[in-house]
Formats: sequence, structure tokens, C-alpha cells
Amino acid sequence: MSLSQDDNTALFRKAWTLYDAISEKNYMFHQEIYGHVSDLLQQRHAQGPYHLLDLGCGNARFLAPCLKTAPPASYDGVDLSASALEEARGYLKGMSNTALHHKDMLQAVEDTDCAFDVIFSGFAVHHLNAADKQRLLTACAERLVPGGQLILVDVLRDEGQTREQYLEGYLGFMRNEWREVHPEHLNEACAHVEAYDFPETLADIAQMAQQADLKAPAVIGSYRQHHILRFVA
Ligand SMILES: C[S@@+](CC[C@H](N)C(=O)[O-])C[C@H]1O[C@@H](n2cnc3c(N)ncnc32)[C@H](O)[C@@H]1O
Repeated sequence: MSLSQDDNTALFRKAWTLYDAISEKNYMFHQEIYGHVSDLLQQRHAQGPYHLLDLGCGNARFLAPCLKTAPPASYDGVDLSASALEEARGYLKGMSNTALHHKDMLQAVEDTDCAFDVIFSGFAVHHLNAADKQRLLTACAERLVPGGQLILVDVLRDEGQTREQYLEGYLGFMRNEWREVHPEHLNEACAHVEAYDFPETLADIAQMAQQADLKAPAVIGSYRQHHILRFVA
């Protein structure tokens, strides 16, 4: 594991409970977003058995209920945080054919020989730099079966917005609206966002997808800076 990977997941390794508390309060629209993800997985499930890879799965707390209503033939979750994976074991309990991998997501998708019908990633890809996002999309396209789909949940910058302008807006949103987070924890979360969030614009992601031979993304839903995109191989 490189130092930068070690650093960018520090918040999740040391204070996984902080992210968990933030998502529980729905500050990042997990309820609405995972409602869409559930619909997409149910549509796919209705078409027959599907194999699912989850990159940056965390504790899978929000995906697990979606999987219960649209059980995949197999589920592989990948994360660098051992404590999140430990919790994921609990949330996924009772589901068959699940495997959790303590690994870098880019390495995982580049190294695997398996083919997937759906690759999902929730709020993890924005940690990668632009070159690694391109590598990730390319590797995902190569691992998807024809007609397979990449479902990407992530924050995006507005078109024409610099990273600094994005951060000013997002940190303002956190400070003004994440009212029930303890001030010390809010500072910790803001510092993490400031240091490690590198969201792209939709146009940049669409360009990367084109380069990777994926079809143009469909925007399934948008909640402020938080979006659900679907790319078909
Ligand atoms: C914000 S959490 C999202 C968790 C969950 N997918 C969700 O939607 O709530 C981001 C997760 O990505 C993981 N992560 C970040 N960079 C990673 C990398 N390069 N490889 C694997 N996991 C990574 C973190 O450890 C963390 O668990």
C-alpha cells in the first residue's frame, strides 16, 4: 500500500464511525441514492443471475438491503479499510457467495480475471487522481460482460468549476447543514474532504468513459453534488 493510499483512507480506518454517522443522518443523500441503486439492481436481477463487484464497499451498510431484494449470484466487495470490511461481514450476513477483499480497488479490478455483470462504486472514485480514474474506468470496461453496467455514485464538480470553487461550496454545505455532527468531528471530516476529494465534472467523466469504450453515462439521479451515473459496456 502506498503512502497516499494509506493517507486517503485514514479517516475511514481510524474513524469509520464518523462516516457511518454522517451517512446515517443522510447528509450525503444515501437514502435517495441507494433507492435508485436498489431499482437498478432489481431491474438487472429480473433479467437473470448477475455477478456484482463493489469497489470501495466500506461496510456495505446501504448496499446490503439492496442486495437482499435483488440477490446477486455472487458479490465481491473491495476496500482498503479493515474495520469497514469487518462491519461489512455483519451487514452481509446470511447472503451466499460473498467475498470481501482487503485491497486497493484499482489493483483489484486490474488484477482480476473474473467478468462481472455489474460493477458498483459508491463515494470512492473521487479519491483517485484523474489518471487513476481513467485506468479504473478502462479496467471496469474490460471486466464487464457485453451489455454489463458500471453504476457510479459519487460527487461531481459543476462544469467550469475549479476544485477550489467546488471545495468552497462543499465545505460550506458541510458546515451549514451537517448540524448534528460534533464540531471536532466536523473539522476532521472537512479536513479529509479538503485533502482527498478530487471530483471530476460530468463532462470529464463522460470523456474518460468514452476513452474506456463505455457508452455515455446516463444520469440516474442528482442530489446537490451527489450523483448516480450508469455506464453500459
Ligand atoms: C465514503 S466511503 C463509501 C462507502 C460506501 N461505498 C458508501 O457508498 O457509503 C469510501 C470508501 O472507499 C474506500 N477507499 C478509498 N480509496 C480506496 C482505494 N483506493 N481502494 C479501495 N478502497 C478505497 C474507503 O476505505 C471507504 O471505505
